[in-house]
Amino acid sequence: MTQSFANLLINWYNNHQRDLPWRNTSAPYKIWLSEIILQQTRVNQGLPYYNKFINEYPSVHDLANAPEDEVMRLWQGLGYYSRARNLHECAKSIVNQYDGEFPSTYNELLKLKGVGKYTAAAIASFAFNQAVPVVDGNVFRVLARYFCVTDDIAQPKTFTKFFNIAKELIPEEQAASFNQAIMELGATICTPKKPACENCPLAQDCEARIHHKQSELPVKKKKIKIKHRYLYYLIWQEGGKLAMKKRGESDIWQGLFDFELIESDKALSTEDIIYKIDTLYKDIEIVEISEPVKHILSHQRLEAVFVELKSTTENILNDNSLKYYTKQQIEELPKPRLIENYLTSKNI
Ligand code: ADE
Repeated sequence: MTQSFANLLINWYNNHQRDLPWRNTSAPYKIWLSEIILQQTRVNQGLPYYNKFINEYPSVHDLANAPEDEVMRLWQGLGYYSRARNLHECAKSIVNQYDGEFPSTYNELLKLKGVGKYTAAAIASFAFNQAVPVVDGNVFRVLARYFCVTDDIAQPKTFTKFFNIAKELIPEEQAASFNQAIMELGATICTPKKPACENCPLAQDCEARIHHKQSELPVKKKKIKIKHRYLYYLIWQEGGKLAMKKRGESDIWQGLFDFELIESDKALSTEDIIYKIDTLYKDIEIVEISEPVKHILSHQRLEAVFVELKSTTENILNDNSLKYYTKQQIEELPKPRLIENYLTSKNI
């Protein structure tokens, strides 16, 4: 099977590849330059930049000797300008530390500025025919579909899994063609949406095609962003009763009871808290401010501070859903764990 995967792929590539300038060379400088540009952008948009750079700087020496402003000017429009600076720095180090010659092995290439696993594998294979697989988004897609691999490609450890699968498939003597071919298949046939399976050389044994799972593979789970919230609970007491309110819709703890709340997306200092309360309420006495209490929910990190207050003149129940509840009533109310813990700590 290993042979046939690579053979089918490479035969297809030999007949269908797009004619791209960096494919007609084994010069590491040109391959490196094209790959750095193509990390940024699609082939059609990257092509004029590649041509501009090669015209302006035909060799790594020309690029190394160019003024930084000029390099940045040429890169203009591609975005991620730190990559352009890395490109220039890398060219200088090739000239100064490597005598103008790119290193020829994957491990040495990895040491260059701006060169990660993908780019190192691309240069090692395209320029030096080393059998190191390239693993980019295209390769994830082709292999995930062909072998029905359901690992989450957003996880760093999944890279190693796909790297190892590709390592098994890549032929020693045709590493460059194999790597170009698998990327080309991913870019032109095995596309994210509506893959052209009818034109795919690997369709016959492709697990995703057989089981109609093309649209489900590869699996890429969205990173859940953890939200940090800072809660400042204002707690009024009157005759042993506490002012509480029912939480509204579209937030955590909908329908549960807690206290009047000031919320912030940054931690407030004690001075900030006092200032905020003073601007919101008149004639109020702050009895106690608790230490922050951390509370972890699945997608939120809460930090709550409980502020006990005494109202001297103002009726805080005016136009507010707050109501005073006795200790027995509070016991019956549905409450978030955070509030329950606070009440327990206060013997309420
Ligand atoms: N995208 C990234 N590298 C590429 C290459 N060598 N050929 C075509 N598309 C690419």
